[in-house]
Amino acid sequence: MKFFIDTANIEEIKAANDLKILDGVTTNPTLISKTGKPFMEVVEEILTEVPDKPVSLEVASTDCEGMIKEAETLAKLGKNVVIKIPLTIDGLKAVKHLEYNGIKTNVTLIFSPTQALLAMKAGASYISPFVGRLDDISHDGMELISQIKTIIDNYGFKSQIIVASIRHPMHVLEAALIGADIATIPYKVVEQLAKHPLTDIGLEKFLKDWESVPEKPF
Ligand code: E4P
Repeated sequence: MKFFIDTANIEEIKAANDLKILDGVTTNPTLISKTGKPFMEVVEEILTEVPDKPVSLEVASTDCEGMIKEAETLAKLGKNVVIKIPLTIDGLKAVKHLEYNGIKTNVTLIFSPTQALLAMKAGASYISPFVGRLDDISHDGMELISQIKTIIDNYGFKSQIIVASIRHPMHVLEAALIGADIATIPYKVVEQLAKHPLTDIGLEKFLKDWESVPEKPF
């Protein structure tokens, strides 16, 4: 299972990279705007820190021609750039064109299995179903991931599932149990994954007991 980090914050990306378990980065216009920095400055920072793993950058146009134009500009910034395209009719046409021309795409804002099916048929390298936003409106986000996994297993589509809009460690656990290819995780949740109160209590006791061990070598 691959771990991407879902942020445009360079400090968080560096921290995740330092853990040596980072497999890629996803951004979106909201995450870029949170940095308060110019778009190109943010993108350059990210591509310098992560030059060889997939970095998803999202287009801002909504028509097919505009999306393709932006995608071609963004793709020139790095060989690892993946173009994030929203799941719309124009988006699907753009995905087909870009993938045919060797530019990798990540179809975003997927909320139903039929949307995922369309993105896979268009040839997307990655598809991003949003689990947290579905949970927010009382739909089972992880059920969507199971359905997409079944469709992929039935037909052998090559698209990789990126479980997106992750809110907590249970989303990551369930994604792993279902067999999703990738989870794109906010940095806060990466930290939560490592935490367990029994680990803290156990370590405190070991350290305390270590004090009373005689003739320690270190
Ligand atoms: C996915 O690539 C998106 O950037 C992201 O996961 C959206 O998450 P949110 O619902 O927390 O905004």
